[in-house]
Amino acid sequence: MTQIQIIQIGMGGVGRTLVQQILAQRAPLAARYGFVLDYLALLDQSGALHTGQALTTETVRAAVAAKQDGHKLVSLTNGHAVADWRALLPSTPCIIVDVTAADGMEHGLLEALTAGQRLVLANKRPLTATLATFIDLTAHGKTRYEATVGAGLPIISTLQNLLDSGDALLQIEASMSGTLAYLCSALEQQQPLSTAVQTARSRGWTEPDPRDDLSGADVARKALILARTAGLPWDMNAVPGEPWFPPELATISVEDFMQRLSDLDARFAHEVAQARAQNMAVRYVATITPAGASVALKHLPADHPLATLRGTDNLFALTTTRYETQPLVVRGPGAGVDVTAAGVLGDIVATAREMQTVP
Ligand SMILES: NC(=O)c1ccc[n+]([C@@H]2O[C@H](COP(=O)([O-])OP(=O)(O)OC[C@H]3O[C@@H](n4cnc5c(N)ncnc54)[C@H](OP(=O)(O)O)[C@@H]3O)[C@@H](O)[C@H]2O)c1
Repeated sequence: MTQIQIIQIGMGGVGRTLVQQILAQRAPLAARYGFVLDYLALLDQSGALHTGQALTTETVRAAVAAKQDGHKLVSLTNGHAVADWRALLPSTPCIIVDVTAADGMEHGLLEALTAGQRLVLANKRPLTATLATFIDLTAHGKTRYEATVGAGLPIISTLQNLLDSGDALLQIEASMSGTLAYLCSALEQQQPLSTAVQTARSRGWTEPDPRDDLSGADVARKALILARTAGLPWDMNAVPGEPWFPPELATISVEDFMQRLSDLDARFAHEVAQARAQNMAVRYVATITPAGASVALKHLPADHPLATLRGTDNLFALTTTRYETQPLVVRGPGAGVDVTAAGVLGDIVATAREMQTVP
């Protein structure tokens, strides 16, 4: 039985769910593929749970429960403050899993990659740093990042398979934010924007500061990852996300922002009414072509695949030389901790299988 060691950075909603999925899948994966997934370390912002050997199932379960209850890993038995997680890297290959949303992770990740480790990322930020960083992280095929764009939806692997088999990308048109898709649906049902944002926030569908969703930056990051995966040598300024709010609302407190949101209700009601008068739907759409990209609120004909989206679903329509008259469509829930953790686990399993043959 091959032992595959994992260092997991991040024990938030996705990280905790991933631990539970790994514990549940250990025995079936061992039976099917002949490897066992072991945790070498778990990290949060406080430090690491680490003993120098594989953590026991009981220790890992207790860590999930403690994080669920709001404790820090450093407060647990075998919890240590670590100045730099790279100090935990073993001399043999393991899988580093980044399920944080942290900036600046790319330096350590690149160093680990150079030292022969494999990477699995749900964190978009390392892949949206400089183009050179993206290339260094992905060029050798030892980094997987499916969950960064479609959570559990197979969008990165689909795009890579098309390109690897000689297809050429003509256009990707996508609705990639469950939160913004929900707001578009709610606006079409004549809810004021302010009410829709309040509802989404109270259901936990927005970031704590809803401007993180409404700025369009998260969608722009996903669009950049798709574009770079397609070989387009772009930086963030090539995919400016159109914000839903004016600059003067960008710097006030979250509470003031929520209060002032009603100032935008009439504008959005007018936008939806205008679209409806022409039998069009309003959607926040990322469009990527080799010539450029846009990430903005658009009016689409009612029979457009994106116009048929409801609720928080994501949809990616890929037009390529092979799928030119009818785009290849990937559609389904594109957010949520279960599907996101499953996307990460799929990448871990693929990486582990590769490590069995090419350590
Ligand atoms: N939730 C979704 O539906 C979804 C979908 C697709 C992709 N993603 C991506 O998945 C990632 C995780 O999402 P989430 O919802 O689980 O986030 P979260 O609940 O905010 O959890 C983030 C975790 O990362 C830890 N962390 C942050 N900075 C760190 C650092 N420098 N070193 C070590 N640990 C650090 C935090 O530690 P503390 O616990 O100590 O704060 C926390 O445990 C994000 O990049 C997100 O964009 C999420």
